Amino acid sequence: MADKIESIAILGGTGDLGGGLARQWSRAGFKILIGSRTLEKGQAAAAALLAEFPDLNVTGHENLDAATQADLVVLTVPFAHQLSTLETVKQGLSGKILIDVTVPLVPPKVGTVQLPEKGSAAVMAQELLGADVQVVSAFQNVGAVHLQEDHKIECDVLVTGNKRAAREIVIELVEAVGLRGWHAGPLANAAAAEAMTSVLISINRHHGIDGAGIVISGEAKG
Ligand SMILES: NC(=O)c1ccc[n+]([C@@H]2O[C@H](COP(=O)([O-])OP(=O)(O)OC[C@H]3O[C@@H](n4cnc5c(N)ncnc54)[C@H](OP(=O)(O)O)[C@@H]3O)[C@@H](O)[C@H]2O)c1
Repeated sequence: MADKIESIAILGGTGDLGGGLARQWSRAGFKILIGSRTLEKGQAAAAALLAEFPDLNVTGHENLDAATQADLVVLTVPFAHQLSTLETVKQGLSGKILIDVTVPLVPPKVGTVQLPEKGSAAVMAQELLGADVQVVSAFQNVGAVHLQEDHKIECDVLVTGNKRAAREIVIELVEAVGLRGWHAGPLANAAAAEAMTSVLISINRHHGIDGAGIVISGEAKG
């Protein structure tokens, strides 16, 4: 595991959530490698960000190349393609943290919780990748719309993972984009964050909210 995270690969960073994270982390000073199934699409996404902010350190790549070059990797593709994408980049993940943002939505009933048999998408990712990769689950409850804009985001992030040190690193990255991150326990608890997304989608629809999120209440003692 890298001592200090300086570069972040975002696989599927051409999409809504990954694009929002690329925007926020690159503006916070990280080197961002936008991964895609095609080099051209990754480069086009990087060029679009650079057109807006020319001084950023952002480049476009194929997913495996991005994963191999970066200190830490983030997976931001739809659930249906989560495991197949991880298979294609597995060799580039050895010894690294993988942040998995996947929500196991099963269209068309995306407002209904439908967790996979193994409990959660994050647990499936860890099982596929093995102990050599530390999977940390985060960002399931942040609407991409908030990350694509530059206003303050009133939304907390549940961070789950089996190693405290890895969660700590991810919480620092959560804070770097202006959000509050919480140690939310082992990776098995990712099921709660993944399920919460369908609850939030139902709230969005019923109350006409664009990107409802969660905020943890309470104050630390002493
Ligand atoms: N959108 C949100 O507000 C939000 C919030 C929280 C969590 N999430 C989770 O974040 C993940 C990404 O969501 P999103 O809304 O950003 O998705 P998206 O925009 O629909 O797709 C993201 C990227 O996935 C890649 N992709 C599409 N089809 C693929 C395939 N067949 N195989 C491999 N890669 C494929 C594409 O990249 P290339 O074509 O460049 O390869 C695409 O740009 C999902 O798991 C979602 O549940 C989303």
